[in-house]
Parts: sequence; structure tokens; C-alpha cells
Amino acid sequence: MSFNQRVEVGAANDAAPILVTGGAGFIGSNFVLDWLATSSGPVINLDKLTYAGNPANLASVAASPAYTFVQGDICDAKLVARLLEEHRPRAVIHFAAESHVDRSILGPEAFLRTNIDGTFTLLQAARSYYDSLVGKERERFRFLHVSTDEVYGTLSPDDPAFHEETPYAPNSPYAASKAASDHLVRAWVHTYKLPAIMTNCSNNYGPYQFPEKLIPLMIANALQGKALPVYGDGQQVRDWLFVLDHCRAIRTVLEQGRIGETYNVGGGNQRSNLEVVTTVCALLDELVPDSKFKPHFQLVKYVQDRPGHDRRYAIDARKLEGELKWRAEESFETGLRKTVEWYLANAAWVADVTSGAYQQWMTQNYDSREAGRSTVAIGEGSR
Ligand code: NAD
Ligand code: DAU
Repeated sequence: MSFNQRVEVGAANDAAPILVTGGAGFIGSNFVLDWLATSSGPVINLDKLTYAGNPANLASVAASPAYTFVQGDICDAKLVARLLEEHRPRAVIHFAAESHVDRSILGPEAFLRTNIDGTFTLLQAARSYYDSLVGKERERFRFLHVSTDEVYGTLSPDDPAFHEETPYAPNSPYAASKAASDHLVRAWVHTYKLPAIMTNCSNNYGPYQFPEKLIPLMIANALQGKALPVYGDGQQVRDWLFVLDHCRAIRTVLEQGRIGETYNVGGGNQRSNLEVVTTVCALLDELVPDSKFKPHFQLVKYVQDRPGHDRRYAIDARKLEGELKWRAEESFETGLRKTVEWYLANAAWVADVTSGAYQQWMTQNYDSREAGRSTVAIGEGSR
């Protein structure tokens, strides 16, 4: 597929594996596919396979001798220690998390467990493992913690973008749990000299994103003629980054980033939610010309806002751009087109992940929201 960019960064063809956590999720699976496609060395993928983890994302590499999948929990200290001991990775890339803000509002416990306890467990295991290393193995070991811009809180329209020194001010249970995990990583660097680096990234979009998040949800609902639920006034702003640009940023930071540093990652694509939904609908109108739901924008339905909804995120990525020469390569327009095309070409993937428990989530999250104003009456097939 055209979305699989091939990027060479730093030390390629290194025989030592990396240990990826959460590699069956959205960003993790894009990262694993890209890593293996560029022959950067073997990957051990530790993933619990929650509702968000999907081995089908990695079907194309499942039989590769360079890929090992381990179903397990990052909170399982014995398992994590054993994997480090057995595979002797040169790095841990930590993606595993509960990642959806709305789920964190309705059920925060899992977020505290995985995002805080899980990160703590990994840090402790990585610390013991690092202490056992000598020579080159010790010198090159890195723990890369993948985090989010949501730890910085919310911005007003005229505020400057988040930079690495912006004070933490998390607003949702999800953001608070990620902020806590970031603080743990910082402390393990400072106190135990664990060679960790952090990345804080803005909203990702692209192939394999679970259709609970804005863009794939809008695509999946529009194709079925269901309502497109826009929270509040739809004027909240996010800074969108194509997932493979994020994966490339992580590789760059892994190979060249300075220990103990944080690097903000962002696409420089600030868009209101309504603009995003409008663009998705226009792409669907063009790419599915015979759709009976055209124009898809008529399906938009304003619904009750997310409690504590952050108004605006924006990332200042100048540190990563200046120091490590990373740049986002995909424009929002080209990236969104590739994304919509991917979802259209992968209807079976969507059908698979939206069966069963997904329907319960849709009921839980959306049915209780009182409808605000609707642009038009919701048409045939809507919820
Ligand atoms: P995701 O929800 O799509 O995937 C999370 C993965 O982690 C799943 O495969 C799941 O099975 C696994 N997992 C969850 N709990 C686990 C546990 N206890 N043990 C092992 N595996 C577990 O998430 P994503 O969108 O791919 O995000 C990946 C990381 O990037 C997260 O840490 C998230 O906070 C961060 N991030 C995401 C975005 C974004 O826009 N999606 C932006 C910035 C940062
Ligand atoms: O900023 C980085 C973060 O981006 C990541 O850390 C999170 O893991 C990721 O989920 C994402 O968080 P958001 O809350 O910004 O993403 P989400 O796709 O849930 O929502 C994007 C915007 O769209 C947000 O303002 C809420 C709005 N929205 C979302 C949904 C699901 C709607 O209006 N309607 C919806 O149905």
C-alpha cells in the first residue's frame, strides 16, 4: 500500500531486537510494520490484546522470523523480566496504553492500571535489565516512552503551541494517567539513570485506527448512513499527524535523541473537528459517488459535549525539527485522502472490529448523550 513509506534512519540491520509494547494497536502496528519493512532488526511485540489490539493488523508479518508476538500484560512483572532476559533487546518502545479519552471518563480504573502501574512495572524491569548490561549492550540500550500532548492540558485560540517546557496540566483521567507515567519515566532517568527518552505527540490518524476515534468513526458511520456525532459546537481544535510520520519520529528519537530529553511531535495541522468531519464527508462524496447517503455531511448530528473537553491542542515541534532534522512529510489533505482510501479498501477489517463489544461501546458512549441541534434530520440507517 502507498501508505507504507520506506524510511531509513540511523543504525539499520541491527541483529539485536527491540521490545515493543502495545504493538497490536493503532500506532504500534504501524510502527512494527514499518520497522520490519525497513529491515531494522527483529521485533518482540508484547500486547495484551484488549479491545484495541488486533493481531490482524500484523498478519502480513506474523510468519516472519524477525517477528515474535507475545500475548501478555505489561503489568505482569515476571513476564516482562523474562522477555528482557531471554531476548536481550537493544530498546523498549512503550506504546501500550488505554488510549481513548471517552472510555477514561466512563471507566478510569483500567487507565490507572495499565498507564501508570504498567509503566511502573516496565520501568522496574528495564532498570534491572539495564543494570545487568555491560559494554556496547549497555551503552546503546534505550527506553522510549510514547506519550501525548494531552498532558499539557488545553489552549485558548491565541495561546502559543505546547513546547517541551509547558507545565503539565492534564484534564481527563486518560491525560492524568499519561502524565503520571511521564513523571515516572522522568524520575527513573533522574534517580536510577535509566537511559529513557520521551515523545509527546499530537493526534494521529491513518490506517488501522480503531473506529472509536474521531476520523475512523466518522468514516465508518458515514458509510452506513449512521449519524456523525459531533461533540458540543465542533469548534475544538486538534493538531493532526499522519501515523507514519509519528513512527518515523520515534525511530529518529530512538537513534539520535538525547537521554532524559522529551521531544514534542506534531504535524502543524490544526483543524477544528467540524473542519475534519467536513473534509472526511467531502472525500467520501468523491470516492463513493454512488452512495445513497450523499452528501455525507447531512449525517452530522451535534450531541452533548465530552465532560471536561479540552478546547485546543497544538504542538511546537521545533526541538525535534531543529535538533534531529525530523519533519512531518504528509500534508493533512494527502494523509486524510490515503486514510479514507484505506478504510474503503479494508471494509472487512472495519466489519471485524465493529462487531460484538464495539456495539456495546457505541450504545454506552452515544445513546445517553442528549442531542443538541442537528444540521438536518438524520436519514435512513441512523441510530
Ligand atoms: P491503541 O488503543 O490503538 O492501542 C493500544 C495497544 O495497547 C493495544 O494493542 C492494546 O491491546 C495494548 N494494551 C493495552 N493495555 C495493555 C496492557 N496492560 N498490556 C499490554 N498491552 C496492552 O493506542 P494508540 O492510539 O496506538 O496509542 C499508542 C500509544 O501512543 C499510547 O501510549 C498513546 O497514549 C500514545 N499516543 C496516541 C496518540 C493517538 O492519537 N492515537 C497520540 C499521541 C500519543
Ligand atoms: O492528542 C493526542 C491524543 O489524541 C491521544 O493521546 C489519544 O490517545 C487520542 O485518542 C486522541 O485524543 P482525542 O480525545 O483528541 O481524540 P478523539 O479521536 O477521541 O477526539 C478528537 C476530537 O473529536 C475531540 O475534540 C473529541 C471530538 N469527537 C470525538 C469523537 C469520538 C467528536 O466530536 N465526536 C466523537 O464521536
